[in-house]
Amino acid sequence: MKLTIVGSGYVGLVTGTCFAEVGHYVTCVDNDENKIKQLQAGIIPIYEPGLETLVRKNVELGRLKFTSSIDEGVKNGEVVFIAVPTPPQADGSVDLSFVEKVARSIAEVLTEYRVIVDKSTVPVKTGEKVAETIRRYCKTNVDFDVVSNPEFLREGSAVADLMNPDRIVIGANGDRAAAIMKDVYEPFHAPIMITDLNSAELIKHASNSFLALKISYINAVAAICEASGADIGMVADGMGADKRIGREFLNAGLGYGGSCFPKDLSAFIRISDDLGYDFSLLKEVERINGDQLERFLKKMRSVMWVFREKKIGQLGLAFKGNTDDIRSSVAINIAQRMIEEGALLKTYDPKGMEKCAVAYPQIPLVSDPYDVAVEADAIVVATEWKEFKELDWLKIKKLMRTPLIFDGRNLLEPGEMKNLGFEYYSVGR
Ligand code: UGA
Repeated sequence: MKLTIVGSGYVGLVTGTCFAEVGHYVTCVDNDENKIKQLQAGIIPIYEPGLETLVRKNVELGRLKFTSSIDEGVKNGEVVFIAVPTPPQADGSVDLSFVEKVARSIAEVLTEYRVIVDKSTVPVKTGEKVAETIRRYCKTNVDFDVVSNPEFLREGSAVADLMNPDRIVIGANGDRAAAIMKDVYEPFHAPIMITDLNSAELIKHASNSFLALKISYINAVAAICEASGADIGMVADGMGADKRIGREFLNAGLGYGGSCFPKDLSAFIRISDDLGYDFSLLKEVERINGDQLERFLKKMRSVMWVFREKKIGQLGLAFKGNTDDIRSSVAINIAQRMIEEGALLKTYDPKGMEKCAVAYPQIPLVSDPYDVAVEADAIVVATEWKEFKELDWLKIKKLMRTPLIFDGRNLLEPGEMKNLGFEYYSVGR
């Protein structure tokens, strides 16, 4: 099929590439001409495992192309996906101006039937607004359908998530659009759920909020483990073995960050408020999440007493492992807090340093993970990179002034660290 993706950010680029990989002909549109030029030259603006190879392969096969012309995109694609940012506003509500602008731009060049699909994370009832906008700005009386098709990929495993989805949600108010969307997703051999437009939009916010709730729940249980001497790893394994609960998203740590959960939670609270429901449960999820960092810093202070003039090495800046994304990263927050309190910080991240240098020039970076350990009074593990687990921790111990580790992601084995002679602290165990 011929498909168009408007917006070549994380979601748009990965989605477009995976659609091409399963055999569709895909046009990716972005209004950032520089980005389009880079993509045309095979330069990928984000780090995502497996993505670059797939982009190059599908460009060579002639199934994936990039343009800054929305006109060309709408002409080329029988289905047009909107995958533009929906950033938060100061009051927690969602800025839908990019979605609205794309809807107007599509309307202006619409000449024959198209399925317009919203893939961006949007508040319930946005699809209705998109349809209204297209109708208003369209010069002819051309037929179209608006569909909601939320995306559930995670950064760091986006290609794998997209190629093997648990489910595909299609919110369509008519059979014609639903049938076309089923054809789009047929090559993925995944369960397809057809819902109405509003329900599909709600599924996305409700899912992300529920996952964030799982994380805050386990972080709250971790506090009880610390107070009682129980082990959060064992508790999470025991809980997670129950199929009704599931083990995923029960890893205690510094709390969730990133460009999705914090934003989607406050948006969902706001959407619920606007619809007349006080979602106080989610407000508590946010509070517990914010508290995780404070509790961790308190633990560090209780051991180190003061941070001023202490050499602290930090491993991790990205908001999670396998990504270069540092947006709303708790690792960045902890680095900033330690710097504010006078610590002499050195940080390392396998992929996140380039973006960190631009956004947070005050955070000192080193290009070798072992350099953070040189003469260090303590090491903080702030991101769950697998690579950190595989470091030579005996070498690290020898480089440090005092062998103190604060593992904010429960990445390392407490027994092993103690055997190596470290004083080791983690979360909930
Ligand atoms: C999240 C969802 O998992 C995706 O399904 C969704 O599509 C995406 O948001 C989105 O809305 O675009 P993402 O933010 O990429 O994906 O990353 P996650 O793997 O969900 O991690 C989010 C945060 O939670 C990270 O800071 C991570 O360190 C933290 N986390 C995750 C925990 O603290 N504990 C866990 O057990 C799992």
